Amino acid sequence: MNDLLMKAKQITEKYHQEHVFRFFDSLNVEEKEKLISQILSIDFEELTNLYEKTKMKEEKKEDRIEPILYRDKEKISDEERKQLEKVGIEEIKAGKLAAVTMAGGQGTRLGHHGPKGTFILDTIHQKSLFEILCDTLKKAKKDYGVVIPWYIMTSKENYADTVNFFEKENYFNYGRENIFFFKQGEFPMLDTNGKLLLNEEGTIKEAADGHGGVFESIIKNGVLQDMQQRKIEWIFIGGVDNCLVKMVDPLFIGMAIQKKVLAAGKSLIKASPEEKVGVFCKKNGKPSVIEYTEITKEMAEMRNKEGELVYGESHILCNMFHIKAIEQIGDNKLPYHIAFKKANYKDENGNMVEPKEPNAYKFETFLFDAFERLDDMLILRVKREEEFAPVKNASGVDSPETARKLYYAFHEKEEK
Ligand code: UTP
Repeated sequence: MNDLLMKAKQITEKYHQEHVFRFFDSLNVEEKEKLISQILSIDFEELTNLYEKTKMKEEKKEDRIEPILYRDKEKISDEERKQLEKVGIEEIKAGKLAAVTMAGGQGTRLGHHGPKGTFILDTIHQKSLFEILCDTLKKAKKDYGVVIPWYIMTSKENYADTVNFFEKENYFNYGRENIFFFKQGEFPMLDTNGKLLLNEEGTIKEAADGHGGVFESIIKNGVLQDMQQRKIEWIFIGGVDNCLVKMVDPLFIGMAIQKKVLAAGKSLIKASPEEKVGVFCKKNGKPSVIEYTEITKEMAEMRNKEGELVYGESHILCNMFHIKAIEQIGDNKLPYHIAFKKANYKDENGNMVEPKEPNAYKFETFLFDAFERLDDMLILRVKREEEFAPVKNASGVDSPETARKLYYAFHEKEEK
């Protein structure tokens, strides 16, 4: 440990972060080892560059933004739909589909105690978000006679709680051998002076590196290898908090195959030009998502001959990738975005501080930045009431109340 400790000290001196050793003497052996290994694994060059960026005004790049082609599920004829679904069903039956659920977020807005997936959304049947998602896989097993492997991405922080929950629930009778957990990467947080924050333990405070971390962690944790061994070709990747997420969708698969693309994304029509959502577009000829903060008013309001918004297809974190696309994307890290957030930390006197205002920079990658690494993708517009009921806030829009209503209404209709 001494050599490693020396090395870690040299690094922190070089990058003016010596304060991270402030509580070193009071740490136990495990915590000391953790701190050293954190220092040795952090990319301080990148961290320094990112901190520099927080002080600079963001350069406006002159990107070429164009609309992207999309298909509206509603407008597909019965005949075409059946034929495309047949193609998708064949793939599913051949065991070529896997599902990934991203459940590594902190769920700060919901404020539920525990991982968001453990939140009981269906209060009639006492079903958590995880169980609701699992129900769709169980239904697919019944419909197509195959067990779709389910990979769940957690953060380091909520890994144990997530696995314990599945244990307690007996893996919802989907079979423990069919559900896999892996941890996403982390990245340190910085204060406004560019100093690393410490957590309660006295080691470096790190946070999950955003849903864009899914590609890298699929590769690093051997998930890709496992999928390759199972001869998986299509991977649905979605969030844990959309209780209407359609992880098994033959039409979606059939359409991606027909279009000969390596990725597909579902969209919803924007409620109004002002709605604060990112929309699908082409950026410099590649598929992309433009955020509402980046789009001009003129573009947001632009309509085509049919009166539809030209940039009106919002990204809802329901995407599917061919395994080749994951290999391609996961090779290189996605860019970090900077957010200024509230973060608890241990101060120089060893007291925990709970700030009332944002005090720290958090660095996150976004899944949709991966689209630009692909030549093309399929965009399928779906209906909100059939596929999108997110649980984000404790009350108001996108809350358990709104999601629950949509969930019950959808299932009532399904049962009829
Ligand atoms: P959100 O961006 O809505 O974040 O995540 P969140 O963590 O759920 O909630 P807030 O912002 O703290 O209130 C969308 C989806 O991406 C996952 C989340 O678990 C959710 O399913 N996610 C997000 C990750 O898996 N890892 C991350 O680092 C961030």
